Amino acid sequence: MPDTWVLGIETSCDETSAAVVGDGRVIASSVISSQIAVHRRFGGVVPEVASRQHLDRITFVVDEALKEAGLGFSSISCLAVTVGPGLIGALLVGVAAAKAYSYALKIPLVPVHHLEAHLYANFLAHPELEPPFVCLVVSGGHTSLILLQDHLKYRLLGATRDDAAGEAFDKIARVLGLPYPGGPALEELAAGGDPCAIPFPRAWLEEGSTDFSFSGLKTAVMNYLNRLREEGTSPYLPDVAASFQAAIVDVLVEKTLLAAKKAGVGKVALAGGVASNSTLRRHFEKRAAEEGLDFYFPEKRLCTDNAAMVACAGYYHYLAGHRASLAQEAFAHYPLVPCE
Ligand code: KG4
Ligand code: ZN
Repeated sequence: MPDTWVLGIETSCDETSAAVVGDGRVIASSVISSQIAVHRRFGGVVPEVASRQHLDRITFVVDEALKEAGLGFSSISCLAVTVGPGLIGALLVGVAAAKAYSYALKIPLVPVHHLEAHLYANFLAHPELEPPFVCLVVSGGHTSLILLQDHLKYRLLGATRDDAAGEAFDKIARVLGLPYPGGPALEELAAGGDPCAIPFPRAWLEEGSTDFSFSGLKTAVMNYLNRLREEGTSPYLPDVAASFQAAIVDVLVEKTLLAAKKAGVGKVALAGGVASNSTLRRHFEKRAAEEGLDFYFPEKRLCTDNAAMVACAGYYHYLAGHRASLAQEAFAHYPLVPCE
């Protein structure tokens, strides 16, 4: 039986989620109320609508998380909440709720960074995993290579200079006429296509760079589609999707392996919504094995936004003695503080 139960709360984008995690590794409950159906008719997340949806659902998901875990508030040692980065109105709902629970029930509260939460999902999936390792956090808003030197000690090894990989998936999916959220829909379409059909560019950037850029690839796909339309030819969309996906996956995998080599670590991990892409997972697994690196990735439900990962990261903040005050704010932009 775990000693320390953490109740996590996540509302940074379009999932309202609460979860109870024991000793940072045991998921007792994970409740996710997705707003996908609400935002789909707008073709993407509408921030104001997201905030209102979070408000409607937040107390329900917290109650459900406790019920599913079979625990009362009196068993909770600590509350953990995502404070940024994300949609400010959405974050504020989670932060305000967490502060209210903390104040009313006298339970300490810790602030969690959304990217560190994604990274920490790997500890839930692999209880034996220990730092150091290099993690590619690849989501709708971020594409970052982070070295976790020790718990809560981060070094940023690379990041995107323009679009995040998930953003590129979503934008190209929209161009291909696919519904929101674009990533999973594009992956499905790509399954019936040839990844070598169209040689879309890979942005390797300067020799040895571990930064990313996806805007050139996005333009290349749009130019390709426009050229075919001007010629009066219909593109074979599964080939376009598969070739686009292959171009993104190649760059993500090779740059992560390069970053691990440069950092001198033998373990690589994957996190964030795009990490649920099966082609990315398979390619990563194969290339990591070829390079002699251990490869870790969370199960799909822990890749997209969820509060279990927040509770996991929160547990380490709790152990480190970090505490949020009632003046805790939410931050739309919030850099992950590197260690000295
Ligand atoms: O981590 P996440 O749930 O939210 C953010 O923090 O952004 O990631 C959402 C992103 C979206 O861009 C979505 O299209 C992408 O992850 N995504 C995928 C897949 N599933 C989700 N991208 C590619 N393939 C997938 N299977
Ligand atoms: Zn996320």
